[in-house]
Amino acid sequence: MDSSQTSKNIIVLNTIEQVRKQVKNLKLQNKIIGLVPTMGALHDGHASLIKKAAQECDEVIVSIFVNPTQFGPNEDLDKYPRQLNQDMEVCKSNGASIIFAPSVNEIYPSDEHLTYVVPPEYYQNKLCGLSRKGHFNGVATVVLKLFNIICPDQAFFGLKDAQQLIIIKKMCKDLDIPVKIVACPIIRSNDGLALSSRNAYLTRAGRAKSITINKLLFKIQELYNTGLKSKEKILEIALKELNEDIKLEYLEFLNLNSFKKIDLLEKNTLIAVAATVDNVRLIDNIII
Ligand code: PAJ
Repeated sequence: MDSSQTSKNIIVLNTIEQVRKQVKNLKLQNKIIGLVPTMGALHDGHASLIKKAAQECDEVIVSIFVNPTQFGPNEDLDKYPRQLNQDMEVCKSNGASIIFAPSVNEIYPSDEHLTYVVPPEYYQNKLCGLSRKGHFNGVATVVLKLFNIICPDQAFFGLKDAQQLIIIKKMCKDLDIPVKIVACPIIRSNDGLALSSRNAYLTRAGRAKSITINKLLFKIQELYNTGLKSKEKILEIALKELNEDIKLEYLEFLNLNSFKKIDLLEKNTLIAVAATVDNVRLIDNIII
């Protein structure tokens, strides 16, 4: 379907009260509601989630909220791109009907003594959780708040943030949250770089270096396909793909189900990488 066919009228709501009223109306009409939580600066990765939600649900709500509780003190909260008008077009042309774009004050009226959702340490003390202390408390808290505000039937998350997705699924299971979590594949640009709002910070030269991150991942896949299983042996060869100016933060092999680090590659392995290119932190992964 082209965008003109999927295009719906879109409304932007800023308050919890407004969105609850709309949702109540939709539920009275037995509509299946899909939620796509985002922080805005929408690109084709986000668009793919919205499109998938529009295929699966009657009404799609996109939340756009740059969530301060998931940013560390030295992270890019202030300079994170904000572009609601452009985002509206992306939402509309991919089949969303409502944007929930609250202010920080609407979501966190008082920043003191907030009740946080704290995902298990086991899921936090790996990958991004190691360098971004408290990040997943902020993510889980805001996602649960969005679930409680919107009560969606389904919520759509990208595999790009694999640890986030695993943590959200675990939260829903452990806390009996009645939302179906739908995992969506990573969308990449033609050069293979995983789309990210943070790619906008990259210079031309930085971008050229960045694509060696996905080259590294696909080299690992290729080596696995030729029969190599040992992490050590695979990395010895594959790491040559990575541009030498790139600062590797982690490159881990984990079993997707147990979330345990592994040394021998097998089916259902998550290979996740975080690296800094000219001060821009990028993450990517593949699943074998
Ligand atoms: P944000 O970074 O805006 O991402 C919103 C959703 O888009 C996430 O589920 C993310 O995995 C997905 N996404 C981003 N890039 C993608 C790509 N290249 N391909 C496929 N999906 C992609 O993730 C967050 O916001 C926040 O942590 C949030 C969940 C909204 C909580 O604040």
